[in-house]
Parts: sequence; structure tokens; C-alpha cells
Amino acid sequence: MNVLITGGAGFIGSHVAHALLSRGDSVVLIDDFNDRYDPRLKEARVANMFSDSPKLPVVVRGDILDQVLLEKTIQEHNIDSVIHLAAWASVQPSIERPRVYSDVNVTGTVSVLEAARKHGVKRIVAASSSSVYGGITDMPFREDMNIMHPISPYAATKGATELMCATWNHLYNIPTTCLRFFTVYGPWGRPEMAIFSFTKAILAGETIKMRGKNTMRDFTYIDDIVQGVIGALDNANGYHVYNIGESDGVPLPRMISALENAIGKKAIVAEVPLPAGDIPATLADITEAKKDFAYSPITSIEDGTKQFVAWYKQWHDNIFV
Ligand SMILES: NC(=O)c1ccc[n+]([C@@H]2O[C@H](COP(=O)([O-])OP(=O)(O)OC[C@H]3O[C@@H](n4cnc5c(N)ncnc54)[C@H](O)[C@@H]3O)[C@@H](O)[C@H]2O)c1
Repeated sequence: MNVLITGGAGFIGSHVAHALLSRGDSVVLIDDFNDRYDPRLKEARVANMFSDSPKLPVVVRGDILDQVLLEKTIQEHNIDSVIHLAAWASVQPSIERPRVYSDVNVTGTVSVLEAARKHGVKRIVAASSSSVYGGITDMPFREDMNIMHPISPYAATKGATELMCATWNHLYNIPTTCLRFFTVYGPWGRPEMAIFSFTKAILAGETIKMRGKNTMRDFTYIDDIVQGVIGALDNANGYHVYNIGESDGVPLPRMISALENAIGKKAIVAEVPLPAGDIPATLADITEAKKDFAYSPITSIEDGTKQFVAWYKQWHDNIFV
């Protein structure tokens, strides 16, 4: 395949690119390397991750809101598949800056869908999020639940991403799959996410802020996410939405114990309230992805945190964050 990955210098995008290159696909990344978090981490991913790949990705530095650039990229590289991951991620900053979330996550998705349908793209996979389940308290979350109750601007933009994908699929019939990712972690992760920032704080002897001891997350290891993205890409047909989680609800104290064991040091923990916009608990029902493309996540929080901490210790001098 000739695959365009939007947001390809991001956490998930760079891992998906690595896996596709390793199996022989051609990959073009488009990313604006913006400073929502330190862009040197994005540069470091691109510089370091592909050293063992049989070929390198083409890197296009630009904005998905630039329709002309997107169309030129798809044409020039004969793109047949699009994995659309570019977005402003994270719940809390979306409350501070809702306009940029709406511009990139909603209008940006429309740019990608328009460019794809004009230039003969044959399949699209797009990132949604477990955040779309909003205020729902029934567990586990199933894809057929009513998601019209988002509790943050970020969640609303991801619901809108799904609606745009469904609409373009209806109009132009390009097989399109939206994946609701559940709290992804692992090497080269995003620095503001709990497992990354807690590791940094524990090693430095600083206090970590636990947002509620009953808060539960379906933490999903990056290799399992990559398996889900590639399974969805290879089996795209019609329009589908799938949960891509580990399917293990981990209370925050269990995640912190796993990190303490992986690091070999006790954490200093302060409990703080869950902020507005954050969901108290997430847990994915992954029956549909299992059935349609044999998705089978295998990494427990205990194993995944060990792999993350090993990476962090090796790289923290070089990733600047
Ligand atoms: N990591 C998670 O836990 C998680 C959970 C649910 C959903 N998601 C979704 O998965 C996708 C990837 O997430 P991630 O964790 O890799 O985040 P990330 O921030 O590391 O990656 C997103 C990339 O998109 C790029 N980007 C943002 N705006 C752009 C624009 N206008 N033009 C071009 N590039 C742009 C960023 O520079 C970044 O490199 C996102 O859509 C996110 O909403 C992630």
C-alpha cells in the first residue's frame, strides 16, 4: 500500500508508520510539528524510530488545513490509503482552546476526507477516542451506545470526526473505519499523559497528582493499538466504528503500583479531584474488533509499564521533556 499518515510525527502515527514500513508498505507522513507539546520530541521520533526500517518514510511538513498541500501530497505519492491521526489530542487543553480543537479536529478532518475522495483513495482509517462516551456510566463501553452526551470540547470534536467520516462514506463510498482509542501509552508517548509524567516525577522524587483513587482507565499499550490500526486498515469495508482498548479497567492505584515496580521506587502521591471534562472510568468492549479483524491485545499494565520505563531510562536525556 501507499499510505498517508496524518499526524505521522505523533505518538501513535510514528509507531504505525514504523510497523507499515517494516512490512513493506510505502509511507508518507504529514505533520505540522506544532508546539502543543515539545516539538523536539516529534523530531526525535522521526529521527530515531526508523533506523531499523527497511525504508524511510517521506516526511511532509505542513498543516492538514492546507487543502492544496494535502491534495498535492496524495497525487504525487499515488496514495491509496489514509490513516488520519492528526488532531489536537487531550481533554483539559480543549477546555482552554476550543477553537483550535474545532479547527483542526473537525475542519481538518473535512480537508482530509475531501482530498481523499478527489484523488482516488481506496480506504480510510480515522482516530476517534474513548472520550466520546462522555457521561455514560454503563461498563464496558460498546460502539452502539448513544454518544450524544460529550463532556469536553475534545470529545465533541471526536464525535464530529465520526459523523464526518460516516457522511463522506455515504456520499462517496470509500471504505472508512473510525477507531475509538482508549488511553494509549508506551515508548515515545506524549509527555503530558499520566504514565509518562508520573514516571518523570517518581524518578525526580516529586509528588504525583492522582486524579481520584476510584478513577479507572483502560490503558492500552501502543503495540496493541498498532495491531488494531493495521487490522482495521487491511479489513476496511463500508463504514465501521470500533473500540480499540486493552479491555482491562485499571484503577489509578494499580497503574501507580505497576510504575513503582517498574521503576523500583515508591511514588509520593497526592490525591486531587477529577477535573471537569474528564471521564471517571473507561473500559472497552472489544468484541466487534475481535470478530471483524481478530484484534487481540496482549499487554498488561504491569508488562507495558516495564517496557515504557526501560525506554524512558534509555532516552530521557535525548527527548528534552
Ligand atoms: N494517545 C491517546 O491516548 C489517544 C486516545 C484516544 C484518541 N487518540 C487520537 O489518536 C490520534 C493520535 O494521537 P497521539 O496520541 O499520537 O497524539 P499526538 O499529539 O502525539 O499526535 C498528533 C499529531 O498530529 C499533529 N498535528 C496536529 N495538528 C495538525 C495539523 N493541523 N496539521 C498537521 N499535523 C497536525 C501533531 O503535530 C502531532 O504530531 C489523535 O487523533 C488523538 O485524538 C489518542
